[in-house]
Amino acid sequence: MGMAINNLPQIREECEIFQWSDKQLREVMVRLHSAIEKGLGRDTHESSIVKCWLSYIQDLPNGKERGKFLALDLGGTNFRVLIINLGDNHFDMQSKIYAIPQHIMTGTGIALFDHIAECLANFMKEHGVYEERLALGFTFSFPLKQLGLTKGILQRWTKGFSCSGVVGTDVVQGLKDAIARRGDLSLSVMGILNDATGTLLSCAHKERHCKIGLIIGTGSNACYVEKTEACETFEGGLSKQDMVVNTEWGAFGDDGALDFVRTEFDREIDQHSVNPGKQIQEKMISGMYLGELVRLALVKFTRMGLLFGGRGSDLFFQRGSFYTKYVSEIESDKPGDFTSCMEVLEELGLSHATEADMAGVRHVCECVSRRAAHLVSAGLAVLLNKMGEPRVTVGIDGSVYRFHPHFHALMCEKIAQLIRPGLQFDLMLSEDGSGRGAALVAAVACREIQKAT
Ligand code: GLC
Repeated sequence: MGMAINNLPQIREECEIFQWSDKQLREVMVRLHSAIEKGLGRDTHESSIVKCWLSYIQDLPNGKERGKFLALDLGGTNFRVLIINLGDNHFDMQSKIYAIPQHIMTGTGIALFDHIAECLANFMKEHGVYEERLALGFTFSFPLKQLGLTKGILQRWTKGFSCSGVVGTDVVQGLKDAIARRGDLSLSVMGILNDATGTLLSCAHKERHCKIGLIIGTGSNACYVEKTEACETFEGGLSKQDMVVNTEWGAFGDDGALDFVRTEFDREIDQHSVNPGKQIQEKMISGMYLGELVRLALVKFTRMGLLFGGRGSDLFFQRGSFYTKYVSEIESDKPGDFTSCMEVLEELGLSHATEADMAGVRHVCECVSRRAAHLVSAGLAVLLNKMGEPRVTVGIDGSVYRFHPHFHALMCEKIAQLIRPGLQFDLMLSEDGSGRGAALVAAVACREIQKAT
């Protein structure tokens, strides 16, 4: 037994690849900005990487929406069915989470939609609305080429889904077909939207400066309010002034634009994912990958003899064993305290970790999450600069933002450095944007129909 050697300096040095200078961040911004412009442009859209899909949402809620609506929320960690009552001074909502078993996530599209319709029917029975004809909003958080508020063609699956026969088809039709196969429900599907869009809508319902919606959860994405005239792919003719644009910025980097800052760990995550080469920016930011990024770095440092006396454990060497929630837990320990860190390491079979090891683990977590927060900040700064409005609120949802102890502070600091002087912003946690947003879309659509008849 030798003396405890402090390997922290060397771990810090190894982690420098996760630390981006402002110069690098600004280069990322230049590239993202041009990718967004390409997505919006008529002639460049086809070959663009950041697609900037139109949401066909042109009216933000004004707080006066009323009624009872159903909502489906597919695309995060959970699938949920909700019933929402928009009242004068209240917003009641009841919801139930249903599992999407792995074999359904990677099975056929028919099985997926049948499962969704079945959960919906059970939910309606339990809530005594099985016989009612209710309006439904569908939050479907995958890249959709929308051709209207109720028509969206799936472009690719993300976040571990890979159901066959759905890419290239209209997802609303898929849902309607499944409902028709059952034959027992009568519903009107009033709109389909993305979770980022839902988050924007539900925040705008309360705060009129809200013009950006952001998700940092299982995946990462942002949407924002653009001038309709800048949306060159829009064929709706002259219409309302604004349009919510779903950037699908998770795909940024799929053409190599981020290669100058990617690490060996990023490449390894990508190679072992179900969608290699795709969603490169998302793989540096979101909850589906952050824990695994930390694990890969820790494994490397263990093999180098810098951690745990060079000894890991079977679980620790297994892919996916280091959950992203561990990163939040470890960073929630006060400086100098390693209570949560020790618990996590024990769960992973690493109870032989010393305090120096724990300091090293914590440092790796901090570097990986800081990089994610900075990359998101660069993205938001691009949108804020592009919009050029004096004051914008960003509505944010997702487990990483919600549960990580420092993400919010890291973002506030970095965005302030990256935006043009004179612009102001607020970051606002959204309470269940996916669910409420779906109800609001349905409500606004019902209102517009009533207006027209
Ligand atoms: C993925 C999806 C996107 C969604 C995001 C957050 O990036 O492609 O549609 O908004 O995850 O859930």
